[in-house]
Amino acid sequence: MRVVAITGASAGIGRAIAMRLARDGASLAICARRADRLDTVAKEITQAGGTSLPFVADVVQDGEMRAFVDRAVSRWGQLDVMICNAGYGVYGTIDQVTPEKMKAIPKAMKPQSTIELMCTAIASDGLVAGRKACMA
Ligand SMILES: NC(=O)c1ccc[n+]([C@@H]2O[C@H](COP(=O)([O-])OP(=O)(O)OC[C@H]3O[C@@H](n4cnc5c(N)ncnc54)[C@H](OP(=O)(O)O)[C@@H]3O)[C@@H](O)[C@H]2O)c1
Repeated sequence: MRVVAITGASAGIGRAIAMRLARDGASLAICARRADRLDTVAKEITQAGGTSLPFVADVVQDGEMRAFVDRAVSRWGQLDVMICNAGYGVYGTIDQVTPEKMKAIPKAMKPQSTIELMCTAIASDGLVAGRKACMA
């Protein structure tokens, strides 16, 4: 059994990763800020053959991320993979990515690499508990 924690798993790439792993029967700790969308994905994971632990958390709040990881480890006794997916992007051609859109990126999400490193550091205790581990 693999235990995988995914941030930002209620939509887009995070949801797609969760659904793919669910088909392999993975145990998935999933987080996002909006509970309703997270619960919908949790039900879809169950239907696909996986097991999920939905947890409402904001990746910029280190206490919430710590609680997310702790809950996963206490539920399954291990954490094998941490996928730091949640983020904020501005997509489009160069003329579509305007300064206004860049300025609208929430300050707390800049730089995104800081958030990803923080989530990785928080997950590291669970990940290195004598097992092979992966962070993405
Ligand atoms: N799509 C692309 O072409 C592309 C290209 C390069 C990189 N990326 C990166 O890939 C990641 C996913 O992109 P996407 O297009 O799949 O995004 P998306 O469809 O907008 O989904 C974002 C997911 O992250 C959650 N989320 C956003 N902010 C969060 C926060 N502060 N705390 C916890 N959860 C949060 C959202 O749920 P809530 O809003 O409910 O929290 C949602 O589940 C992002 O980091 C993005 O920058 C995407």
